[in-house]
Amino acid sequence: MHQELITISSIDEIHSLTNKIRKEGKSIGFVPTMGFLHDGHISLIKEAKKNNDVTIVSIFVNPTQFSPTEDLASYPRDLEKDKSLLINAEVDYLFFPNTEDFYPNDFQTFVEVNKISKILEGEFRPTHFKGVTTVVAMLFNCINPDNAYFGQKDAQQAAVINQMVKDLKYDIKINVSPIVRENDGLAMSSRNVYLNEKERKDALVLSRSLSIADELIKNGEKNTTNILNEMKKKINSVESSDLNYVSIVEADSFTIIDTIEKGRSYYILVACKIGKTRLIDNKFVSI
Ligand code: PAJ
Repeated sequence: MHQELITISSIDEIHSLTNKIRKEGKSIGFVPTMGFLHDGHISLIKEAKKNNDVTIVSIFVNPTQFSPTEDLASYPRDLEKDKSLLINAEVDYLFFPNTEDFYPNDFQTFVEVNKISKILEGEFRPTHFKGVTTVVAMLFNCINPDNAYFGQKDAQQAAVINQMVKDLKYDIKINVSPIVRENDGLAMSSRNVYLNEKERKDALVLSRSLSIADELIKNGEKNTTNILNEMKKKINSVESSDLNYVSIVEADSFTIIDTIEKGRSYYILVACKIGKTRLIDNKFVSI
């Protein structure tokens, strides 16, 4: 059991550390996070530990992926608790960059993926993915991992990162792990702490609407409009809900489809506000 966690904030230090690890012929598994860690993050860390010699986790609440009206200032943070979870998970290094180092005053370079960044989440959060791809590119350049780990919880984010890695020729394998849920089905999220007791119950409508869609598809429904209408009915039955979107996309290309076809795989996706808290969830289906 590790008793301490080596935390690195300096960009020069993370470069020399990761260069040294690579020179020793060791593989690096990297898990980028914004902290306030839960079992979803820990599942990614376990995957990284299983398949690499050295595991590095980053915690950085990235300002460029929040719009001015979003929750950057109130985004939950608990570094001491996160560190103890990382020690328990036997993580080798925590990379904890400073905002001033990542975004100095003269910062002027952004990484933007077109097309798949513009639909669904991109429609409701137009600048979000540009912030995500920019920070992930910077993190990849600091760490240069062999493997990077992302959650299916943010399926579109994983698709956008995959596109960036392909387009920019990064020699990094992107690994996507399944969604970790609470016992009652709510997908774990750092933002779940915003929910009050009633909203916490209401929030189950997301996973329940996905189960309804999954069931319809398994029973042979092919028309996505019918499936999405049933999901909408379920979500709108909860008073505190304010639906952003429900959609079905082809899993590999992340293109929105109208007809379910045999032999293919899809993500059913939902984004919905419960009270003031915006939640997302999805389900992978293969028929
Ligand atoms: P964050 O929301 O902290 O999530 C970090 C990683 O954990 C993401 O890949 C996310 O998909 C995964 N994750 C979150 N909840 C999960 C769950 N319930 N089950 C499985 N995996 C889960 O996503 C971000 O941070 C940021 O956008 C980041 C990629 C770090 C760039 O700033």
